[in-house]
Amino acid sequence: MMKKTANSSVQIDHLLAERWSPRAFDPDHAIEDEKITALIEAAHGTQYETGAASENICLQATSMGLFAHRMGGFDAERTREVFKFPQDITPIAVIAVGYYGDTSKLDADFVESEQAERERKPLQKNFFKGDFDTPYGS
Ligand SMILES: Cc1cc2nc3c(=O)[nH]c(=O)nc-3n(C[C@H](O)[C@H](O)[C@H](O)COP(=O)(O)O)c2cc1C
Repeated sequence: MMKKTANSSVQIDHLLAERWSPRAFDPDHAIEDEKITALIEAAHGTQYETGAASENICLQATSMGLFAHRMGGFDAERTREVFKFPQDITPIAVIAVGYYGDTSKLDADFVESEQAERERKPLQKNFFKGDFDTPYGS
């Protein structure tokens, strides 16, 4: 399992720090039925808020030793066909979930980013204190 703990200025919950989106999944390690149910239960109850549902799935996956990768780049028509979606349902994103696989089997283009340290912008870039003229922590 590959760890890529997020750098943060203070300690955050370990699930938030440890969640990351890999590309290398293990095609031979099926997810246990109970874990699939847990992923669904985690998403259930967020009503129609897909952002919250997807984050819950990702965090629940992390807590069970699984990994999740959200994607908007997928073939929506093919997805509709394979999963027999009714015409009024439009898939807008998919989430790959599974056990971590073998990084060396990735296309060469992806190996470097898979192994790179996690980078986060400094808090001051996106957060402000009181008003927009005062970057957080300055
Ligand atoms: C709605 C949405 C769509 C995304 N689409 C893709 C995608 O098509 N392909 C991809 O590799 N990453 C996609 N991402 C980004 C990854 O899921 C992930 O958030 C990003 O690589 C950041 O990595 P991290 O989760 O390890 O911090 C998408 C993220 C979101 C929220």
